[in-house]
Amino acid sequence: MIIAFIGYGQVGGALADHLQRAGHEVALAANDPHSESVRRALARNANLKIGLPREVVKQAEVVFLATPFQANAEALKLVAAELSGKILVDCTNPVGPNLTHGLNSAQSGSEAVQKVAPNTKVVKAFTIYGFENFENSAYPGYGDLRPAMLIAGDDVRAKDVVSTLCIQLGWYPVDTGPLSMSLHLEHLTLLWIKMARVQGRGPHFTWALLTR
Ligand SMILES: NC(=O)c1ccc[n+]([C@@H]2O[C@H](COP(=O)([O-])OP(=O)(O)OC[C@H]3O[C@@H](n4cnc5c(N)ncnc54)[C@H](OP(=O)(O)O)[C@@H]3O)[C@@H](O)[C@H]2O)c1
Repeated sequence: MIIAFIGYGQVGGALADHLQRAGHEVALAANDPHSESVRRALARNANLKIGLPREVVKQAEVVFLATPFQANAEALKLVAAELSGKILVDCTNPVGPNLTHGLNSAQSGSEAVQKVAPNTKVVKAFTIYGFENFENSAYPGYGDLRPAMLIAGDDVRAKDVVSTLCIQLGWYPVDTGPLSMSLHLEHLTLLWIKMARVQGRGPHFTWALLTR
């Protein structure tokens, strides 16, 4: 599958690297091919492709958005025409002052992304943990149990595609329902951040889904 990344820092860089190693053609949307973030991504994985945002997004079947939340609209508008009809994986979180919801819980960040890119199939994924877990999703010692990746989106086929990518990256995908469920995922993220980074538990834990 051809996958484009808009934003490839802590989150996007790890996911782009692992998806390329899983066999996908992964390209970074780069306004400046000589930027520090491009250099870092290529130093990590020289098989990543680089191109201008509109070219890279045009070629892709799936586009990952992993920019600071405040940069989402600017980054998406640049490639609005090329994004049309594509699966857009929203990895971003609106985080406000003192680890509150950045949109005052009135609307999810992913629904805001959907408004900016109305002709895309937005799936929220790869948001509920810190980047350390995207660097390494392995939790040995639990048998076949895999860490859960909770996702949300309105398009069932798009969620199937993203679920497959989750499995390839070592996660157990859990479809939580329509994109409006993203608001709850964003609160779950805040819970994780407070436990991991404020209370001192550290980043090396995830949720898992037990069913019977
Ligand atoms: N950090 C985490 O543990 C974590 C976990 C889950 C979700 N998230 C969410 O993931 C997103 C990215 O977080 P991060 O920690 O990966 O951030 P980061 O390390 O700062 O990386 C941000 C990336 O976005 C790019 N970028 C910034 N402004 C841009 C713009 N206007 N247009 C295009 N690209 C732009 C940066 O490129 P340059 O370096 O060239 O500016 C960089 O590649 C955030 O929304 C965050 O809430 C973070």
